[in-house]
Amino acid sequence: MGPDTLHNDETNHLWVGGVRVADLAEEYGTPLYVMDESTMRRRVQEFVRLLAETELPTRLVYAGKAFLCQAMAGWLKPFGVGLDVVSGGELYTALAADYDPAAIVFHGNVKPGAEIRYALEAGVGQIVVDSLAELQSIEREAAALGVRARILLRLTPGIDAHTHAFIRTGQFDSKFGFGLADGIGDAAVKSALDLPHLDLIGFHAHIGSQILEAEPFFANLEALLEYALKWYRQVGYWPRVLDIGGGFGVRYGEDDDPPDLGPTFRRIAAAVREMTPAEARLPELAIEPGRSIVGEAGVTLYRVGALKRVPGGKRYLAVDGGMGDNIRPALYQAFYPARLDGKATNERTDEFTVAGRYCESGDILVPSIRLPEPGVGDLLVTLVTGAYNYSMASNYNRIPRPAVVLVADGEASVWVERESWADLVRHDRPYAAVPTPNDV
Ligand code: LLP
Repeated sequence: MGPDTLHNDETNHLWVGGVRVADLAEEYGTPLYVMDESTMRRRVQEFVRLLAETELPTRLVYAGKAFLCQAMAGWLKPFGVGLDVVSGGELYTALAADYDPAAIVFHGNVKPGAEIRYALEAGVGQIVVDSLAELQSIEREAAALGVRARILLRLTPGIDAHTHAFIRTGQFDSKFGFGLADGIGDAAVKSALDLPHLDLIGFHAHIGSQILEAEPFFANLEALLEYALKWYRQVGYWPRVLDIGGGFGVRYGEDDDPPDLGPTFRRIAAAVREMTPAEARLPELAIEPGRSIVGEAGVTLYRVGALKRVPGGKRYLAVDGGMGDNIRPALYQAFYPARLDGKATNERTDEFTVAGRYCESGDILVPSIRLPEPGVGDLLVTLVTGAYNYSMASNYNRIPRPAVVLVADGEASVWVERESWADLVRHDRPYAAVPTPNDV
């Protein structure tokens, strides 16, 4: 539960990255996303170490969909890692931060032609292809630009990882990728090998997100290797890259127990060595973690705005944010731990429902949690909000999205400014009279 991210002092005030949350709320307002630099740094370094220990050619690729803004891309740059983007907008953000285009991997099950062109013109390192139609459009765009596009095929090996149905992607009837069981994968490989402006550098398979077991990652890699071997035997093709995607789970609640990935990576490395044909080159092993890099680094600060006790029913604690800044509880029944600033956790506790401010009964941030006695104006902090919170935020109810602040060594810096009401109408045109059949 982000134990390294949030600290208590002797007065039970909460600190993150060496800064008091009360000071952050005072200076930047609430709701506020706070990212702890040291947690992110440790996670990146941990993955780099795990990959280095495989002694294979490897590549860490951060999945930007978990959390991306210009400053995040800028922060990541010196690590020299790859960056996975899934839209022209994410690509634009990365390029705005001068991210090395060669380190960018372009994903997405629907890539509009203009985005493919943009990616090829920018010189992105790899495009992960998701459909037969996309193979044709990349071929067309690459031919028009006179380049050869480096592509991977996204395969769906039929691995059913135990995670929420909405964030599961590798099962056989997924909307993503080329199914291995149904022959579409074979058609895609043939086409990719035939088309002159495509350079098929390898295979990719991502099986889902927030996976708390190690086995599916290994099974995924094994399925990719077996598929590669089939092509090696048939036509002598051997991939230069095998990308097993992301999905490594994090600890939201006490029941979440992410596996130690060391043994899995060692098994993966052994399988890659064993199954690579003697005459072929070892493929580069790539992974694409998003959540496991940023999830535990994030906390969100809210101000308690209202308290309500339903006689014989729930005790509500309502805060000044909710589903607009964190859609995950409503969308996936995701659990978030929460703390009240300045209150001893061993004080008299009661069961509370933490509600948001959005006009929906379903806007509940935490359905049930024991908390010390709250007061209006208290600061409530939810933990493990670094992944898929800011990146999935909306302006529902015309509520501006919160700022994102990075904390490092007792210093805070703004990564994304808080939106203003003026921002909300920036793209609106004022009403201009239209002809109507009847006067009002
Ligand atoms: N690579 C590919 C191809 C992906 O589709 C994803 C996530 C990742 C990497 C990164 O997965 P991660 O390591 O972050 O689990 N909005 C959902 C999560 C959707 C994940 C989509 N793909 C949520 O809030 O749980």
